[in-house]
Amino acid sequence: MTDPADDPAISAHSTTSGMVGGGFYNANSATQWKAIEAVLPFVDEAANTLPTTSFTNGNGTVCLADFGCSEGLNSIAVMQRALAGLLPRTDRPVQTIHSDLPTNDFSRLFVNLRPGGRPVFDGARVYSAAVAGSMYDQLLPDRSLHLATTFNAIGFLSRRPVEVLPGYICLNGPSAARANGFVSSEDRHIFAEQAKRDVADFLKMRARELVPGGKLLVQVFGANEVARTCDGIYDLLNDAVLAFVATGEISRETYDRYYQPVYMRALEELTAPVSQEAYGAAGLFRIDGTRSYEIPVPFNTRFDADGDLERYATDYVNFFRAFTQSILETALPEGPGRSSLVDRIYNCAKDLIRATPELYPFRYIAIAMLLTRTG
Ligand SMILES: C[S@@+](CC[C@H](N)C(=O)[O-])C[C@H]1O[C@@H](n2cnc3c(N)ncnc32)[C@H](O)[C@@H]1O
Repeated sequence: MTDPADDPAISAHSTTSGMVGGGFYNANSATQWKAIEAVLPFVDEAANTLPTTSFTNGNGTVCLADFGCSEGLNSIAVMQRALAGLLPRTDRPVQTIHSDLPTNDFSRLFVNLRPGGRPVFDGARVYSAAVAGSMYDQLLPDRSLHLATTFNAIGFLSRRPVEVLPGYICLNGPSAARANGFVSSEDRHIFAEQAKRDVADFLKMRARELVPGGKLLVQVFGANEVARTCDGIYDLLNDAVLAFVATGEISRETYDRYYQPVYMRALEELTAPVSQEAYGAAGLFRIDGTRSYEIPVPFNTRFDADGDLERYATDYVNFFRAFTQSILETALPEGPGRSSLVDRIYNCAKDLIRATPELYPFRYIAIAMLLTRTG
C-alpha cells in the first residue's frame, strides 16, 4: 500500500491525482454541469463587472482563470459564458487559463481547447493556456488576474487530515438513513476546520493573483439541513469496499487507512473564512452574493422517466467512479492485481445498486459565493 502522503503521483497540497482521464470524466460530468449552470448568473455578474482597465501585467491583457478544470468540457463551457459577457466590454486581448493538478489529463484538455485544430474561443482576441499546480498555492503572478473561478473542486482537501478513519470512507460520515459506519465528533471537528483553512488558503492565493476589484466565484458540492452530496454515493462505495474486506481481499488495516479526503461544506462553512479573523483571510474579499441550492441529477431524472435499472446502475457508478477511482487505487496495495480489484469494486457497486437501488438515493446539494477583491 502506498501512503498517499508519499505517493509521487500526488502533488503537494492535494489529496488526489485527479479524475479518471481519457475522456471518462468529461463523459460522466453532466451532473457537475447542472450544478455550474445554476450559478451562471454569478458568472454573468462577474463578467459584466470585473475591472477591464486595471492592468499590472504590462501588456494590458484581461485574464480569466478556472481552477480544477479537469478535462475541460465544463470548464470551457463556463469560460465561453464569461467571455460572452466580457468581450463586448473591452477591446483588450484576453488570456484564459485552465488550471488543475500536474497529474490531470491535460492532453484531453488541450484537444478540447483546439477541436478540429481550431481554437475553441474567439481566435482573434482570446489566447488559452493551461497551468498545472495545486489551487492552494499561488499559480499566477501578483495582480495579473481579473476573474478566478472554481467549480465542484474545492471539496477535495489540500491534505489528509487524519491517518486513519476506521469507521467509514468519507469525512462527513454515512447518511442518516443508512448509518452504515461512523465518524467521531472529534474527527468531524478536525475535518470542518481543515475545510475552512483550505478555503482561507485558496482565498489568500487568489487575493495575491487578482487585481483590486477582481472577481472570484467559488462553487462546490456541499450540504444543507436536509441532504448532503455524499449521501448515497459514498454509502455505496463503502458497502462495495467492505464486501472485499469480508472476503479478505482487502485487509482491515487497508480499509482503516482508506478514505476519500473530500468534505461537504454547509454554506456558512464556505463563507466563514471570508470574514472570520481566525483563518487569516478576513478582509481580502467582499461577498457580493451567496447561494445554497439543489440541482436535479440527470441520471435520477432519466431513471424516473424510463425505469431502466441497468442504465441507472451504470450511470450512477460511472458518475462517482470518475472522481473516486484514483484515490481508491492509491489506497490499495500495489501489485499486478490492483487495477482488476478496482474494477471489481465498482462492478460490485453496480450489483448493489441493481439489487437495492432504494438504499442509495443520491441528491446534489451545492453552495457558491461570488466575491470581489478588496483594496
Ligand atoms: C469533480 S472535478 C471538477 C471539474 C470541473 N471543474 C467540473 O466542475 O466539471 C474536481 C477537479 O478538481 C481537481 N483538484 C482536486 N484537488 C485539487 C487541487 N488541490 N488543486 C487543483 N485542482 C484540484 C481535480 O483534479 C479535478 O479535476
